[in-house]
Amino acid sequence: MPTLRNVAVTAPYMHDGSLATLEEVVEHYDQGGRGHPDTDPLIRPLGLTPEEKSDLVAFLRALTDETFLTDPRYAPP
Ligand code: HEM
Repeated sequence: MPTLRNVAVTAPYMHDGSLATLEEVVEHYDQGGRGHPDTDPLIRPLGLTPEEKSDLVAFLRALTDETFLTDPRYAPP
């Protein structure tokens, strides 16, 4: 599983970049994935409320480290 640090600034998501926004990622998990035949039975639709979904997106955005992102030591030369 990839790190979620600064995930708000690393769209698109998943190994194939198939999800454009964090809202789409949360929607993907809420649907229990894409119905692949090998999906573990523990991965299933979550039934999240709209508020729970926006709370999850807010949590993911809270993992943004502005100090790191704006540190001149990591800026392009
Ligand atoms: C609602 C719950 C979850 C949230 C909000 C969440 C969030 C995320 C996000 C934002 C990414 C994209 C990271 C990126 O592309 O940089 C991701 C990828 C991933 N997550 Fe989750 N995750 C959840 C549940 C899970 C669970 C239950 C598992 C394992 C059982 C899991 C395993 C993974 C894996 C393997 C990836 C990489 C997938 C790929 O690259 O195609 N996640 N997750």
